[in-house]
Amino acid sequence: MIDYLTWDSQFFERHIGRLPNPPQTPEGWNAVDQSARIQALDCVYLLLDIADSASIAGAEAAGFNLVDLRYTLSREIPGNQLNAPVLPAGASLRQAAPADSSALQAIARQVHTDTRFFSDPHFDPARSAEMYAVWIASYLEEVQYVSVWLAELLGETVGYLTCRITGELGRIGLVGLAPQARGLGLGTALLAAGVEWFAQQGATHVEVVTQGRNLPAQRLYQRGSFHSARLQLWFHKWYTSPDPE
Ligand SMILES: CC(C)(COP(=O)(O)OP(=O)(O)OC[C@H]1O[C@@H](n2cnc3c(N)ncnc32)[C@H](O)[C@@H]1OP(=O)(O)O)[C@@H](O)C(=O)NCCC(=O)NCCS
Repeated sequence: MIDYLTWDSQFFERHIGRLPNPPQTPEGWNAVDQSARIQALDCVYLLLDIADSASIAGAEAAGFNLVDLRYTLSREIPGNQLNAPVLPAGASLRQAAPADSSALQAIARQVHTDTRFFSDPHFDPARSAEMYAVWIASYLEEVQYVSVWLAELLGETVGYLTCRITGELGRIGLVGLAPQARGLGLGTALLAAGVEWFAQQGATHVEVVTQGRNLPAQRLYQRGSFHSARLQLWFHKWYTSPDPE
């Protein structure tokens, strides 16, 4: 009934599961609790479509807490001309290499604080920050179907955007700019470089996921011709308290 999430459980040192399908009855929700206790889970994740009112009401009545709004945006890649990246003075973009890992990890530790791992106080913020550092490093280890675009400002590494292509679908994964590099158009330039790379790889459309609370990211993608594709809600239910400090 509940899938055990090995990676999350090992990383956060808590037993974490995910409920793939919401139950349809109160008895079904009770069975979820029983299952969580039998599996000795600390936390269960649940992702619901925003239109699924019955399941949302059931989850709330069963003690699941809303922690994030998962917002997917997408755009098509036209066969004709795309906007080339426009760079602010002193800035440049290039594809990152494994040697850039520590500089990109330092940014990743600081910038992803709008996600559910930070809004849910059960997770240790330092550990959540480390998760994004591990994640950006893992992109740099991949050699096929992935590209990591890196932004430099006055010679310093200040941001990244990761791309992965599967068939004709491009997916943007992590995007981040150091605080001092925001509001200059560098996010827009990174996005244009990523979309151009996807076009060269033969993608016909591109998707990106952000958080409902992340207005700067939403504005960035909307400026880049991305449109709303899907809204989902993340819930967490905890069966144990956070570890004492
Ligand atoms: C999301 C994020 C990358 C966006 O960065 P950004 O600085 O807003 O993006 P840009 O560099 O394109 O700057 C755009 C802003 O600068 C302004 N700007 C100034 N000069 C500009 C130019 N030449 N071209 C484009 N925008 C310019 C724009 O008007 C825009 O302002 P607005 O968002 O208030 O409309 C950044 O906020 C960030 O790193 N956040 C933390 C990590 C994160 O949330 N990542 C996304 C996860 S999905």
